Amino acid sequence: MQQQLVFLVDIALLALVHVGTARDLRNIVELKNPPTCMSLKVTGGDDTEAIQKVLNSCAKEKTVALAAGVFYSRPLTIPSGVSLLLDTGVALRAIPKPALYDKGRRTCGTIDDSGDGCKSFITAKGSGIYDTGTIDGEGGARINARNFTWFKLNKVAAGRGRQTNSPMLVEISNSEDITLYQITLVRSPFYHVYTSETNGLTVINTKDDSIGISALTAPSRYISLYGTHFGRGNGLAIGSRVIHGVSNVAFSNMTLSALSHGMRIKSNTLNGGVVSNIVYENICIYRARFPISLDINSKTFSSRTYK
Ligand SMILES: *[C@@H]1O[C@H](CO)[C@@H](O)[C@H](O)[C@H]1NC(C)=O
Ligand SMILES: *[C@@H]1O[C@H](CO)[C@@H](O)[C@H](O)[C@H]1NC(C)=O
Repeated sequence: MQQQLVFLVDIALLALVHVGTARDLRNIVELKNPPTCMSLKVTGGDDTEAIQKVLNSCAKEKTVALAAGVFYSRPLTIPSGVSLLLDTGVALRAIPKPALYDKGRRTCGTIDDSGDGCKSFITAKGSGIYDTGTIDGEGGARINARNFTWFKLNKVAAGRGRQTNSPMLVEISNSEDITLYQITLVRSPFYHVYTSETNGLTVINTKDDSIGISALTAPSRYISLYGTHFGRGNGLAIGSRVIHGVSNVAFSNMTLSALSHGMRIKSNTLNGGVVSNIVYENICIYRARFPISLDINSKTFSSRTYK
């Protein structure tokens, strides 16, 4: 980390040169919640069927509203064009039973070398998740007879250099125009939001965990991240997996506090690629162990291949 000062100068120069072209090419304005097609109340048990049924029948460009209470569910799919809305005070919780997320090989909730055993809690094909409710992955709940939590499973796997089979909270793959607006995502068993091969993702007003931009199966480019506060986590990370290149990313108007890392670009000899035209402007970092870091020998937490 002795080279941090040099990198700081480089980043400042980049910001001067490229600030106009780095960002998302769309014009993003403050959003409104879409009109509601159906409003649901909790059933008191497993709400999966009820929620999935209205998601499947809701008209495009409308939203299914979870109106009040704490909903419990297994994996859900938000079909293309439809949105899910969680009102203030509403929570949607992932039932903490690995078998409910299993992809069919009975490996979800175990440690192995592939880490691809679980479906995600929410798979969004479009068009968004809205409002100030909470999606809770129950990462700290007991999931097996040994009283492991999802968090503990991940930690044990990492300690052994193996892969954890634990669900991601929100997965957005092969999609167009997806919005995450005001929603709070907590205690994910694995990544909070994972997105790949998606064009037009808008994330506004998020809290909790930080950002990681990779390029595992396709290039990642024209991304703007702004107006967000992050507490805890590993900061604004690009990498480690940047095989297809990351370019034209702008981070603006953000505050970060109490993190291990602030602005971070990392890769290693297995996952390297070209990272170019990255802009950081108006970033306030408070109490970070490594405010700026460029790491060319990063150990990846996961080498999952996500089929
Ligand atoms: C798991 O927790 C329960 C409830 O606290 C306890 O009765 C049980 O002995 C625990 N099992 C193990 C393997 O620690
Ligand atoms: C950042 O904040 C400044 C000052 O409030 C504002 O002018 C600018 O548009 C903001 N940038 C973005 C990308 O939101």
